Amino acid sequence: RLAKCPGFRGNRVNENIKMENNKVVDTIDIEDMGDKGVFCRCWKSKKFPYCDGSHNKHNEDTGDNVGPLIVKKAA
Ligand code: FES
Repeated sequence: RLAKCPGFRGNRVNENIKMENNKVVDTIDIEDMGDKGVFCRCWKSKKFPYCDGSHNKHNEDTGDNVGPLIVKKAA
């Protein structure tokens, strides 16, 4: 089923980030986050694990519909 998705090029989700690692795990201290953190879920960001807007081009190129996770502190 995945092979039929536009832009699907294999079994990998991650094609660029920390390729030397067997598993990419990031830890963010909530005190360092400010009022809001915008985290990448498309694996295309140059500022991973933060979103840099690269999902827009990915979605245009592939027909995908991914976007970031936004974590906000309660007001
Ligand atoms: Fe990946 Fe925005 S760059 S979700």
